[in-house]
Amino acid sequence: MTAVTGADAARPVPEGLERFPFPLTEDAYRYSTNVEPARKPVRTAAGGWGTRIIDIDGHYDGELRERAAILQRDPSRMALAPHMGPAAWDALMYCLECLAREYPDRMGLVREGRRFAWSNRLQDLRVDGVIGDDDSVPGGPLTFLAGQIQEDIALLDKREGALWLDGGVVTFASNWSMAFDVGMRFLEIHGPVPRVHEERVITRAHDFLMRMQPGEAYRRTNWSMTVDRRLDVSTETYPEWGSSRTEVLEDPRLPQRLHLRVEVQHLIALPHTGAVLFLIRTYLEPFERLAQIPQWRARLHAVLSELPQDMADYKGLARYRPRLVQWLAGEDTVRR
Ligand code: HEM
Repeated sequence: MTAVTGADAARPVPEGLERFPFPLTEDAYRYSTNVEPARKPVRTAAGGWGTRIIDIDGHYDGELRERAAILQRDPSRMALAPHMGPAAWDALMYCLECLAREYPDRMGLVREGRRFAWSNRLQDLRVDGVIGDDDSVPGGPLTFLAGQIQEDIALLDKREGALWLDGGVVTFASNWSMAFDVGMRFLEIHGPVPRVHEERVITRAHDFLMRMQPGEAYRRTNWSMTVDRRLDVSTETYPEWGSSRTEVLEDPRLPQRLHLRVEVQHLIALPHTGAVLFLIRTYLEPFERLAQIPQWRARLHAVLSELPQDMADYKGLARYRPRLVQWLAGEDTVRR
């Protein structure tokens, strides 16, 4: 267990928060391109994170089981345009190499020409595959990859001077739909996001991604909130979770039920095809736990008090923001 730094140095950090990628670095939050090199270590008030591209944690088995069940129920969460076969293999081999390098005690990859042997001790799994032969790995390269890592996967093709979302496996989308967005350009996908167009955040990001050289890897964070520990808040399942945003307002357990949802997003120019691999890893922590780190409590209070209304509306947190801000300030007035 690590300890909180600064004035509260003696206070122990609640289990599991040491590696939480707390995303707020200033007392006011605005959208920005906010990309930085992948694997750059980040210190936080509770510990640190960021030295790996693919992150395996204690939720590994549960999240992969959940993804498999979602794909079974709704195969539209996986998509791959016919011309993206080589990019899917590029993504698979890039990620398996990453895993074998970053987790040598649990993962292994041996390559010989187009043949490879993959082992994953966490799943007691060994697969002998042939690069480019879709039938040589269970489900094909993209679905197989989605069964090895907790990250959601998006694949973007570069053509006609633009980036196109032409494939992926996304089971834990934060209020968007893979089936709806697939085939769209990067700029179209970001159409619903407020402010980013006037402030040129998305056009700048687009230029940056178009210039990335094969093998380069960057990352950024994004955040929002989710009621309960629910990873699948995609448009498809809105009828299951939409009403919880209102219902939680009357619930005295709001600080336990409301979670900060952080996405660590990696942007990788794949080495052989130059396609862009976008990995989205979602972390959920209840406010009750986060507030035990005094610096985080103060930062959340400052950011949420100041967040402009259009951003709060887009992120879907406008209804419960006043009560959360009161609670973070220690002035919860709701009857118990
Ligand atoms: C949403 C920026 C890369 C897909 C957003 C939002 C921002 C943003 C600011 C609003 C998030 C919120 O308030 O919760 C960026 C930047 C990128 C980037 C700066 C690169 C440097 C990508 C890529 C994809 C993507 C590669 C590919 C799938 C989306 C989607 C949404 C989103 C689907 C939700 C849009 C909706 O409401 O329908 N992005 N993004 N982003 N982004 Fe990105």
